[in-house]
Amino acid sequence: MSIFNKLDEYKYWRDEKLEMAVTSVDDCVVPIVDPFNLSHNEKEKLTELCTRNNFALFQLQKQESYVDAFIKINSQLGLTNYDKHLYSQDSGIAKITQTNNQEQAEFIPYTNRRIGWHTDGYYNPPEQSIRSFVLLCINKAASGGKSTWIDHQILYILLRENNPEAAHALTHARAMTIPEHITNGVIRRQKSAGPIFFIDEKSGQLSMRYTQRKKNVQFLNSVEIKQAIEVLDNLLATNSKYHFKLLLAPRQGIICNNVIHKREDFIDDPAVPRLLLRGRYFDRV
Ligand SMILES: [Fe+2]
Repeated sequence: MSIFNKLDEYKYWRDEKLEMAVTSVDDCVVPIVDPFNLSHNEKEKLTELCTRNNFALFQLQKQESYVDAFIKINSQLGLTNYDKHLYSQDSGIAKITQTNNQEQAEFIPYTNRRIGWHTDGYYNPPEQSIRSFVLLCINKAASGGKSTWIDHQILYILLRENNPEAAHALTHARAMTIPEHITNGVIRRQKSAGPIFFIDEKSGQLSMRYTQRKKNVQFLNSVEIKQAIEVLDNLLATNSKYHFKLLLAPRQGIICNNVIHKREDFIDDPAVPRLLLRGRYFDRV
């Protein structure tokens, strides 16, 4: 599979993408006065940032009824088709916090452990691609819990400029397979095989599915793909000007077109445990 039909097409897209990229985190924060009624300006800034960088940060000005405010912000930006994830509740909203429930704690987001680089829903079948996700911090941890991310389209450009063969290898239709998920003899999730970089048919946008988790992930058994994964991981581990690192403050959130991200481990204050709201959508911002 080729991502761009012509080299010129790629170069044009690349140049425009790099020119538009915003690299200062402060320039990516949009203050929101009333989450239930976004102003024209707020909406425009959020969507413009998502067009340029595939993400925007937002900051609520006062304490709100968070879940309602969260759902409302997302829907005003066109995010309504939510993923009914295992532990999500009303309108697909998941509360990301440490759990005492043993079964739930098998999923790292609900622990205080670090999470390596990944895109959300990498295990979903292609027809259920997660095109965007939104996080809102209610309480931060006593220490740790910082997020790091990079626009996956920029990542593709960095990879292709650095090693075109690796970028090509990761577009293979069976580059990464997630085996089916079975608990107590019941298939909870079907096997999902697909490329790591691909053009999303619905939006025509370069998209990504990836996880650094080695458990339950099979990469295609070829030298090219193994080498390409190594190059990709090395690139993710660098600190380019396109890498963002931030500890979300209370009432601060990120809205993004499923950019690749990771989370560091954290220590909770038991009185006020870390709590983030998360929504995952089949829509793009
Ligand atoms: Fe995630």
